[in-house]
Amino acid sequence: MYNTRPVCIGIVILVIVLSAPFWVGIFGTNYTKTGITKPTQESCVEDTAFMRAQHMRLLNEWRDQALRNENRNYVAKNGKTWEISLQNTCMRCHTDYKGFCEKCHISNSVSPYCWTCHIIPTEGK
Ligand code: HEC
Ligand code: HEC
Ligand code: HEC
Repeated sequence: MYNTRPVCIGIVILVIVLSAPFWVGIFGTNYTKTGITKPTQESCVEDTAFMRAQHMRLLNEWRDQALRNENRNYVAKNGKTWEISLQNTCMRCHTDYKGFCEKCHISNSVSPYCWTCHIIPTEGK
């Protein structure tokens, strides 16, 4: 007969190891430790908490609005209207792609595939 105890412990350890990124995602994401450099001038399209959690969804929505509905205006919660453009709106303020978007994405193991078509700003220079 096999000894089931070590096998069970082995399985438990394996599950913990494999799900580690998930747990880090829930408990460990401390954005202040990602060292991102935030722009200081003006303020974002929506508030920081919303942007942090929802920017990917917002960008999807923007793309759909622009391409499916030919709508290039986004009205923010505070009533301000923004041009729907990854390049001309988001990246105009977030010129430091490496120090901002990329830094946080790397620490969260995300790599958006957008930049095969869209242009990565090279720090505004
Ligand atoms: C008018 C300038 C401006 C525009 C346009 C802008 N941002 Fe921001 N964004 C800021 C500023 C300033 C902050 C930092 C706010 C703060 O002090 O926390 C910020 C914060 C953020 C954050 C949160 C960072 C954190 O602290 O976790 C994300 C994510 C973000 N922006 C993404 C985007 C995306 C995506 C777009 C386009 C849809 C965009 N921004 C458009 C200026 C801008
Ligand atoms: C404070 C951290 C942080 C900053 C700053 C940030 N992101 Fe993100 N971004 C994330 C995280 C975390 C995810 C993955 C979230 C998820 O999958 O639900 C993500 C996902 C995305 C996605 C979707 C990727 C995919 O494959 O689903 C896009 C697009 C994106 N970010 C664009 C940007 C852009 C553009 C900027 C800079 C203007 C930016 N992000 C700045 C944390 C950040
Ligand atoms: C296969 C090429 C391709 C990829 C990959 C791609 N896009 Fe686009 N995207 C386009 C094209 C083409 C347009 C239309 C440009 C126009 O009509 O001005 C567009 C338009 C957009 C728009 C609205 C208009 C604008 O100028 O910003 C947003 C927002 C956008 N894309 C976001 C994203 C994000 C976020 C990603 C990654 C998750 C992404 N795209 C990946 C090709 C691509």
